[in-house]
Amino acid sequence: MVSREKGKYDFDEVTDRRNTSSEKWDSLKEHFGYDDVLPMWVADMDFRSPEPVVEAMVSRARHGIFGYTAMSRKYYSSVIHWYRRRYSWNLKEDWIVFTPGVIPAISHAIMAFTHPGDKIIVQPPVYYPFFNIIEANGRVVLENPLKLVDGHYEIDFYDLELKANDPKAKMMIICSPHNPLGRIWTRNELTRIGKICMGNGLIVISDEIHSDIRYPGVSFTNFASISREFSDNSITCTSASKTFNLAGLQISNIIIPNPRIRKDFKNSISKIGPDLPNSFAQLAVQVAYDECEEWLDDLLEYLKGNLDFLKDFIKRNIPEVKIVEPEGTYMVWMDFRAVEGDPEKLQEFLLKVAKVAFVGGDQFRTGGAGFERVNIACPRSLLEKGLQQLAGAVKAYRKGVGKK
Ligand SMILES: Cc1ncc(COP(=O)(O)O)c(C=O)c1O
Repeated sequence: MVSREKGKYDFDEVTDRRNTSSEKWDSLKEHFGYDDVLPMWVADMDFRSPEPVVEAMVSRARHGIFGYTAMSRKYYSSVIHWYRRRYSWNLKEDWIVFTPGVIPAISHAIMAFTHPGDKIIVQPPVYYPFFNIIEANGRVVLENPLKLVDGHYEIDFYDLELKANDPKAKMMIICSPHNPLGRIWTRNELTRIGKICMGNGLIVISDEIHSDIRYPGVSFTNFASISREFSDNSITCTSASKTFNLAGLQISNIIIPNPRIRKDFKNSISKIGPDLPNSFAQLAVQVAYDECEEWLDDLLEYLKGNLDFLKDFIKRNIPEVKIVEPEGTYMVWMDFRAVEGDPEKLQEFLLKVAKVAFVGGDQFRTGGAGFERVNIACPRSLLEKGLQQLAGAVKAYRKGVGKK
């Protein structure tokens, strides 16, 4: 590996991902209608996973037998130590439930702990699959929209109290770090959310899948670690997938301290299965957690560099676009309303003229129109390419090129 000036790992290396069945790179036509756009959308990274992970999987592949795979004690120990080292959160082995993803886990929680017609609180603009799984399961979305105050998103607690008090409200899904806004809810904010939910008998699903990705100086609190009451009435969704770019391996760790909730959750899983991981997933996570912490620290430094680069570029070249500074995640929420107020026209312009694929903010529902979610987890040269295309296109757009 080539050494950069600071970090040990080469995040500048561009790896061609086309023709690998990559959702991000090979499904552009299907998702956006265009093939020739730079993909900066779905939340995975254009970096290779750490070398020890790759080597462990190659070595496992050489063994040549891929029969049913059981979860090992060693695996749980790696997860427990990760949370102890990086979060000072002491998990117990039996709290950890494997699922093939966070979204399937939330879906199981919805099925196990709510009934058709029940309401589930979410905080838009928020990760859109939450809406899909609530509605596909016949439950009702109850929005507690976040408020943008001086470029910073805040929770409307007054509204949350009203919503939580609705007799049909049974569950709240929180997202911290928040996708797409990048907010990391403070201990104080989480405590207020928790008290409101507990006071109204709501179970809390805390989606913390992005928690390893945070910018310097921001501290993170696991919702369930705040109090016994919160840990007894919540389900925490975690994964190494965002952190080490392992989403295609499909493994996540769902933390459920309350044995009654855990039993009902597991029952829901056993109705459908699968309850065993694929042959590579747990090995990859175990090696990542045990051996690749330094890689992650370097990655975080690189992502901070990308964020600074983006901020500086936008300020100098497209000042009408406003960035909402993220505290975590490698997605950046950008306000394009001064470029184009109509979300459909905006998306068409970005794809057709700028040739970049971002995620249109309206997909995240209330408060999202006119914004875009931009994935910056790529080598800086690709980020620069996308931004140059964007700046050139906006310049032309100002003069009316590409406007209908
Ligand atoms: C907040 C959030 N939750 C869940 C997921 C998906 O997780 P999984 O692939 O484990 O279902 C994502 C992926 O982008 C996400 O951003």
